[in-house]
Amino acid sequence: MQNGRSYRSYFVRSKGRHGVHSPFVFQLADTCLTAKVDKNFKTERKKWFRQLTHDRHLFSIVDLGAGSKKLTQQRSVSKLLKSSSSRGVYGDVLYQLARFYRPETVLELGTSLGVGTIHLKKGHPSAHIITVEGCSETQRRALQSLDHWNLDGVTTICAPFDEFLQLPASIRYDLVFIDGNHDGKATLYYLESLLKQVHNETLFIFDDIRWSDDMWQAWQQIVSDERFHVTIDLGRMGLVWQRTQQTKEHFTLRPKIWKTKWF
Ligand SMILES: C[S@@+](CC[C@H](N)C(=O)[O-])C[C@H]1O[C@@H](n2cnc3c(N)ncnc32)[C@H](O)[C@@H]1O
Repeated sequence: MQNGRSYRSYFVRSKGRHGVHSPFVFQLADTCLTAKVDKNFKTERKKWFRQLTHDRHLFSIVDLGAGSKKLTQQRSVSKLLKSSSSRGVYGDVLYQLARFYRPETVLELGTSLGVGTIHLKKGHPSAHIITVEGCSETQRRALQSLDHWNLDGVTTICAPFDEFLQLPASIRYDLVFIDGNHDGKATLYYLESLLKQVHNETLFIFDDIRWSDDMWQAWQQIVSDERFHVTIDLGRMGLVWQRTQQTKEHFTLRPKIWKTKWF
């Protein structure tokens, strides 16, 4: 379900870099979100997407998402690419954010085929990425993707998010991408659980903030939370930083549209 009303108001309110007074957010709008994606990566990506689009072989997936209703369904790689992968503008946004902020350690909740993982890694190749996926068959496809791209420094973990988050961990993340189980309450729980493993400059990226009323309410709660001083509505994604040195402010921005599709 798309939250049509909030999308309409997003398109009315969103701006480019003009009218943004915070230097931190101006830089993001002016430099980060306008950076071009490497040409070779784009060419290789196009070929890879074409390959995935032709893979219509069905396999069983266990869906732990949206409210953790455990559903088993038949899906193909082609379908997963279309329905649950960061392609188009938002794939580029992941690449741009990783390239600009150069995170050493990244956590991704929700690997699917590894499309988001690959954009983050290609944006900043020396980053160490930990990516968590609850469905073992889906994770197998993600491992094939990582092999295709011949990437080092990516750790894939097969576990439900809540189990993963209960493990004792000493790692501190510089960037966290929360993109699975689009349930408002669960999303807030993941954020809360991760706060002990982040720092003041850690960037949280939430996908599908307008996916349902419930996700939208969770996003509104994050925006009004006094602990997060910078929040940015990017349409499909929401960006969050603690940055307590900055006056609390919320922004609505439009990612730069190169010749890519929006969703
Ligand atoms: C939207 S997809 C991730 C897309 C990927 N991040 C990208 O950018 O291309 C969400 C994934 O999260 C997994 N997932 C959903 N809820 C989960 C949970 N509670 N625990 C573990 N994995 C979960 C699903 O199996 C699915 O593959």
